[in-house]
Amino acid sequence: MKIGPIEVWPPVVLAPMAGITNAPFRVLCREQGAGLFVCEMITTRALVERNPKTLRMIRFAESETPRSIQLYGVDPVTVGRAVAMIVEEDLADHIDLNFGCPVPKVTRRGGGSALPYKRHLLRRILREAVANAGPLPVTMKMRKGIDDDHLTYLDAGRIAAEEGVAAVALHARTARQHYGGVADWDAIARLKEAVSEIPVLGNGDIWCADDALRMVAETGCDGVVVGRGCLGRPWLFADLEHAFDGSSERARPTLGEVAAVMARHAEGLAACFDVERYAVADFRKHVGWYLKGFTVGAELRRELATAESLDGLRAGLAKLEHDQPWPPNTDTPRGKSGERAKVLLPDGWLDDPWDCAVPADAESDISGG
Ligand SMILES: Cc1cc2nc3c(=O)[nH]c(=O)nc-3n(C[C@H](O)[C@H](O)[C@H](O)COP(=O)(O)O)c2cc1C
Repeated sequence: MKIGPIEVWPPVVLAPMAGITNAPFRVLCREQGAGLFVCEMITTRALVERNPKTLRMIRFAESETPRSIQLYGVDPVTVGRAVAMIVEEDLADHIDLNFGCPVPKVTRRGGGSALPYKRHLLRRILREAVANAGPLPVTMKMRKGIDDDHLTYLDAGRIAAEEGVAAVALHARTARQHYGGVADWDAIARLKEAVSEIPVLGNGDIWCADDALRMVAETGCDGVVVGRGCLGRPWLFADLEHAFDGSSERARPTLGEVAAVMARHAEGLAACFDVERYAVADFRKHVGWYLKGFTVGAELRRELATAESLDGLRAGLAKLEHDQPWPPNTDTPRGKSGERAKVLLPDGWLDDPWDCAVPADAESDISGG
């Protein structure tokens, strides 16, 4: 798979996940297998305003190449300035644009998955991004639409191809579906038929390497984007590389090997956040994912999930039964799930798909998707 000038083999992308795909986690994933590994979403306004936290979030480890940044923006001018800044200051090698975020505080202001409904505005944003990107490829990640009555992905995919976007990725759910139900892989096949000139990447419900092969076979997509399936499981990227190379070898780490990666993950976060206490607190959400399927007593799980220092965490990890083998039935859903009753949108948002007004305040106080 080629994303602009970047050869990507296996055709696998680590999905941007706010609060998860920071440098320490990306490094662990990348050690396991090749692909593209995208950072957490970065708000364009915060980037151009040089918000210190945002500048910290776009730091890459030295071993990370190519470097992929995902931007979230609603204002074509600000998106263009953010892209120009990335190019001029050599901050990344690839830029992905987020049009899939379903979080109410984002859609309520017309951002993320709400935005592609406004076809002209989407086109203007993509045009500015591509115009300012120089040699860097710009890709776009989107959902099927707002809900089943307001599907946008085929129009958005065509617009992206016309505007010089290097690849489009489809999370095959609507915003209303949030993370619930089952991803509609047929939609990925339909997008592939509609957009033939650039790579189409499929996303949604890849829980093991064989799911990725099946998605490619069933939809004809050029590559896959893997999100929740790798939570607490960076070695999924080793499996994906093997699978795409035709090998049936799969990583089956023992609990001791998992514990060693957990320790490195938490240590990486501590180095990245500077404050050990924050890092250990941030690591708590990963504990259950890493231990999924293993037999670990409730008390020890609690000890690990409430550790307040790296030493405390290491002491808990040392108590795990290190030769316990990789458990069966781990290829099942993990992470967020659940639908939403409705998608919050700005007043009158659905009245005119061609309206080009830039939504107000859509970039304040936003992170994650
Ligand atoms: C915790 C979390 C944070 C996410 N943050 C982002 C984000 O910042 N940008 C984005 O485009 N998608 C984000 N997503 C969506 C994922 O990139 C992906 O599209 C989605 O999880 C579906 O893929 P999966 O079924 O493989 O998980 C996030 C998902 C999760 C679970």
